[in-house]
Amino acid sequence: MRFAVIQALVTLTTLKWVILAAIAGVIVGIPTAVFLLLLDGGIAVVYELPHFYLLIPVGLVGSYFLVSRLAPDAKGHGTEQVIDAIHRRDGNIVLRVIPVKMLATLVTLILGGSAGKEGPSAQIGAGVASGFAGLVGMTKLDKQRFVLCGISAGFSGVFGTPIAGAIFASEVLAIGRFHYNRLLPALIASFVSVFITRNLGVRHLSFDVDYGASGEMSMLLGMVIFGLAIGLLAVVFITVLRQSERLFGRMRLPGSVKALLGGAVLIAVVLATQTTNYIGLGMEIIDLALDGEPYRGIAPFFKMLTTAVTLSAGGSGGILTPIFFIGATAGNLWAQLLELDIAVYSAIGMVSFVAATANTPIAAAFMAIELFGLATGTWAAIAAAVAYLIVGHLSVFPSQIIFHKKTFFMDLEMHDVPLRFSKAGIKRMFSAFFHGYRQERDEPAPPRGISVAESEKVRIDELVKPRAPGRSYYPLSTVPHVPDETAYGQQGGTVVRPGERDIKESIEKLREYVDAASRVCVLTGAGISAECGLPTFRDARTGYWARFDPTQLATPEAFRENPARTWCWYAARRLALQTVEPGEGHRALARLENYVDRVTVVTQNVDGLHSRAGSSRVLDLHGNLLQVRCMKGCRTFHRDEAGPEARDIFTADAAAAFAANHAEEAGDFEHVEVPTCPACGAFLRPDVVWFGEMLPADRLNQAFADTERCDLFLVIGTSAQVQPAASLPVVALEQGVPVVEINPNATPLTEQVTLSIRAAAGEILSSVV
Ligand code: OAD
Repeated sequence: MRFAVIQALVTLTTLKWVILAAIAGVIVGIPTAVFLLLLDGGIAVVYELPHFYLLIPVGLVGSYFLVSRLAPDAKGHGTEQVIDAIHRRDGNIVLRVIPVKMLATLVTLILGGSAGKEGPSAQIGAGVASGFAGLVGMTKLDKQRFVLCGISAGFSGVFGTPIAGAIFASEVLAIGRFHYNRLLPALIASFVSVFITRNLGVRHLSFDVDYGASGEMSMLLGMVIFGLAIGLLAVVFITVLRQSERLFGRMRLPGSVKALLGGAVLIAVVLATQTTNYIGLGMEIIDLALDGEPYRGIAPFFKMLTTAVTLSAGGSGGILTPIFFIGATAGNLWAQLLELDIAVYSAIGMVSFVAATANTPIAAAFMAIELFGLATGTWAAIAAAVAYLIVGHLSVFPSQIIFHKKTFFMDLEMHDVPLRFSKAGIKRMFSAFFHGYRQERDEPAPPRGISVAESEKVRIDELVKPRAPGRSYYPLSTVPHVPDETAYGQQGGTVVRPGERDIKESIEKLREYVDAASRVCVLTGAGISAECGLPTFRDARTGYWARFDPTQLATPEAFRENPARTWCWYAARRLALQTVEPGEGHRALARLENYVDRVTVVTQNVDGLHSRAGSSRVLDLHGNLLQVRCMKGCRTFHRDEAGPEARDIFTADAAAAFAANHAEEAGDFEHVEVPTCPACGAFLRPDVVWFGEMLPADRLNQAFADTERCDLFLVIGTSAQVQPAASLPVVALEQGVPVVEINPNATPLTEQVTLSIRAAAGEILSSVV
């Protein structure tokens, strides 16, 4: 039964995504084709004009004005902004970016700027898909996947390589992480987009590079050495790009003057080299190189210069076409120097340079197979893999997230290898090189998920049955409710105290835990919101309970005794909440949903900031500060509700807050009128849980259920003193689940959890996701 239900769901979801992806292919393929045809048409006309290169400054200034005035998001080379949108903005792209990006790129490229055409297509793809997903009301996760389909369709529509385009879109997001379940939709969208663009008249890349012989061992060695050289060349290119950006960024000149200056540099390159080959898209030179014609050895370096200047001086466009150019001409030069097959090395140089600069070795290998055939593609895979490693953690896309280090040497200090060329320093480097690293030697590997065999043992009714009620029904209090005190002492974990290396190391460990997890449960407290400016409760100087007595404010008895005092205090907190935005920690937890299957945020906070940051599964155990309810339970009002009744209740907040901030004794509240329920006349009270009251049973049950089924538990910014919330991490420890605490101060949990990171939530979380 379980098998049949799951199989039916899997089949339906697969079919759903085949259909959605095909739609993405169509709606992205059409604007991509229009963009490419306009580009080809424009280039065909302008490049026939004598001295057309004199128009470059006009192109750069035009692009600068279009972007800066109409859509600053359209700046740069496109793919970078798309990666950022997926990581940080749930795939949301501002729709205005699409036409602006198209226009700015057309102006840049047609008038001679040196850039590519794939970045804008990816941005168009992401934008169209994001708009469509919003229109049909897709959920956040579906939207992300659909936007990825849009990006794949954009890339593939340009290059005509559906498999490479689909893999590139996934691979380019993060170093060392690939989402297999996004592959099918991306592939379908890519195939459809290639079909549509081709039928609308777009000419895709096509080369005839035939590598006849295969299998000899000398070629294997040749590929390793060639990959190494291409990797180093990628380091040079990325450095040139960064330096040029920095140089133009530092100039104290108006953007339009920088654009003119950039244009002048490009004209100077044309005049100095007596050729227009290094400006524009440069497709003819790529063709030439791949046809096996020997080309000027200096070509890659001039192209690096013109591209870096174009993109930093205000031009708009992609970066992959210049990367093709540089890689192909570099391979061409290599073959000339070593008397090798020019066409084959130009081809392999082109794709390996993509692998290194964009950190996409698998897409590069597939691109080689799709463009040049299996024989050349097979060798290219080796050069691409080597080049990818050699470039280290550099990238033409700085928004890429490093999920797995390429080698542990990327972080020498973290592994106790000092960068000192003294005798001792060199000895340590050698020892690390030959004997591995501190982490690998000393630390046990973190748990890495469950096996297929184990997963089959889980019965479906175990997944859906509610937890047995009982244990979770206790009121809010500071008295521990966990009967089995030994649970606290079960696991003695690592406590990482501040110190830069330790923090780095713990971020690394936390990332590994996240990587191995599929269901994460998070318990948060006032500390995560402290970073937005809201006070905590128990801070000795600034905490609420340092200034107020909880028994006089946050209990039903206190409200009965002096309703106005409690009402005013909550009104003041409600008002303060209006001035804050979700912080780094809240936003990072929302982003965590992009990396694991399920994130449950169980919070003791009543500020609603997790939901505002975008977390989709929030269990607010202690209620909602922005809501008030009738003491008899007949009505609830939310501050954002329209309507005269809610308006009357909440506009009185300012006066109540004033009373709270100025009162000196209980009697000072006498003039404040606590609003009453329009239906029954009973007092309204904040919709929060007070000490001695029961927590909402459904949410608490769900919190325990999710804790029992999670494979990673995070405790963030709570003093872990208030029950029953503080029992959740203990339950997770009982289940053998790793529990990671993030808190600058020690708590009763600190010595028990698997890893305790003594630092601020925002800093740690935003370094992990
Ligand atoms: P507490 O005030 O008890 O604890 C806040 C915790 O956040 C402390 O342990 C701080 O060290 C930590 N912290 C401070 N800044 C931080 C940062 N930047 N990053 C991470 N941690 C940080 O607040 P809670 O544990 O949330 O209930 O308190 C639980 C409940 O007790 C509250 O919901 C409230 C209170 O009484 C009611 O009012 C009913």
